[in-house]
Amino acid sequence: MKSVLFSRFFILLPWILIVIIMLDVDTRRPSPPLTPRPYFSPYAAARGGPRLPLRRAGPVRGVEKLNESRQQPPPQPQLPTIYAITPTYSRPVQKAELTRLANTFRQVAQLHWILVEDAAARSELVSRFLARAGLPSTHLHVPTPRRYKRPGLPRATEQRNAGLAWLRQRHQHQRAQPGVLFFADDDNTYSLELFQEMRTTRKVSVWPVGLVGGRRYERPLVENGKVVGWYTGWRADRPFAIDMAGFAVSLQVILSNPKAVFKRRGSQPGMQESDFLKQITTVEELEPKANNCTKVLVWHTRTEKVNLANEPKYHLDTVKIEV
Ligand SMILES: *[C@@H]1O[C@H](CO)[C@@H](O)[C@H](O)[C@H]1NC(C)=O
Ligand SMILES: *[C@@H]1O[C@H](CO)[C@@H](O)[C@H](O)[C@H]1NC(C)=O
Repeated sequence: MKSVLFSRFFILLPWILIVIIMLDVDTRRPSPPLTPRPYFSPYAAARGGPRLPLRRAGPVRGVEKLNESRQQPPPQPQLPTIYAITPTYSRPVQKAELTRLANTFRQVAQLHWILVEDAAARSELVSRFLARAGLPSTHLHVPTPRRYKRPGLPRATEQRNAGLAWLRQRHQHQRAQPGVLFFADDDNTYSLELFQEMRTTRKVSVWPVGLVGGRRYERPLVENGKVVGWYTGWRADRPFAIDMAGFAVSLQVILSNPKAVFKRRGSQPGMQESDFLKQITTVEELEPKANNCTKVLVWHTRTEKVNLANEPKYHLDTVKIEV
């Protein structure tokens, strides 16, 4: 009996030592990343506020360890998931744009990226990219029919609809978890604050967009907390004179309006947003975000067309490099 116990003890001993060593190595890791949690949160900053600089100093960390409760993240009962639908297509700057976007999204909690390629199949470039992006994501593809690939026609209609269809299918059976959907084109620039604003969307929320419509910004005009019109330099007669980057919709609204999609038929250029929003909401119902629509938190940036004038016709380099 005793010898059995002894042999068990010696079998376990090395494992215990390994665990102790691993725990020790873990606590000696180099300083933690600047933000303690992988997303931006003014709450966290406010909580830790003035103490943050101290955290970086070695000895203080040890003291803080004594009171674990202070390091616990605040309880966040069911933070609504943000679903970002991004249509994308193959072009020289594609990977650069997706990299910028992923670097932003990686700092947002509870974000699910729905990347929809305009292609007959998933490309290797995007597949590899997503596999390494470190983000919860879904990779879809749908080709735009040839007849719609003309200047003057709205773009990414099929891709956005594929994202909507995926969302509806995914939540078909279960009771909808709280969620918010927005359309994140891959050429825009997003402030992290924007995600905090949109996360509290009850039905449909709106906010200003910078560098769009031939102006420095466009914005919903707000009076007494309600949207009453639009500040825009282009087609002010649109029912919702807003860019794709200027609104978010709650998952519940998407699910309870199963037929709401982006339309090809009868849709005029620039009317995609209005055509879609008309199906799910009214101007009176819109929830203004970003300080009653007085802050620009997203910019409709455009990457300059790259100069490939000196690119050789045939592959000349000794290696093949993905760009
Ligand atoms: C740890 O911190 C909490 C909250 O700041 C405080 O209520 C508690 O008394 C502290 N415990 C110890 C042992 O200092
Ligand atoms: C927006 O305006 C309404 C009505 O004027 C006001 O009650 C509310 O506090 C404002 N919201 C913000 C975030 O400033």
